[in-house]
Amino acid sequence: PARLVILLSGTGTNAQALLDACADPAYGARVVAVGADRDGIEGLERACKAGVPTFVVRTQDYPDRPAWDQALTDAVAAYEPDLIVSAGFMKLLGPRFLARFGGRVINTHPALLPSFPGVHGPRDALTYGVKITGCTIHFVDSGVDSGPIIAQAPVPVLADDDEVSLHERIKSVERTLLVETVGRLVREGYRIEGRRVQIGGFDQ
Ligand code: GAR
Repeated sequence: PARLVILLSGTGTNAQALLDACADPAYGARVVAVGADRDGIEGLERACKAGVPTFVVRTQDYPDRPAWDQALTDAVAAYEPDLIVSAGFMKLLGPRFLARFGGRVINTHPALLPSFPGVHGPRDALTYGVKITGCTIHFVDSGVDSGPIIAQAPVPVLADDDEVSLHERIKSVERTLLVETVGRLVREGYRIEGRRVQIGGFDQ
């Protein structure tokens, strides 16, 4: 099975969906570690309960951003991942990290990119007044939520939504899309051609 490292900063419901999916050997992947940029979060507890190793690399423990970037790169590299999944990881991955793992790092984002990138996807969609938003799984590049798009799913905005209700509706769709997309990437292989991502359909 493909080796997954998950990075997160919060509750980790997307990570949980992946941990659950990986329990089935036919899924084709297993989570070899869960890493975070902070302690004491539910996402790390979920990993512990699943018997998966965890690590924490906090920015405040390093003199500057490049040192943190290097430390995170080393921590992840120790698990020899085939694919890295940023699932609610609320920091930008640095240049060293991307030099080492570029093309093997995906992120899940709670909006239909390129609309509403950044850390407040659901809030920004609500403020703008769109009637349909959704979620996007994409490869990570050096920009903010700007890498090649792998998969997207729509979610309606309802008249009485607030940020929390809208984000929860997005997350229920997002977990399914993430599990499906990671499964396809690891089982079928993929190719990134410019901004277009092709999954399967070729000899690996
Ligand atoms: C998810 O909706 C994810 O897309 C979002 O955080 C949530 C994490 O939920 N990420 C971002 O907004 C990144 N900018 P979870 O911790 O329950 O999986």
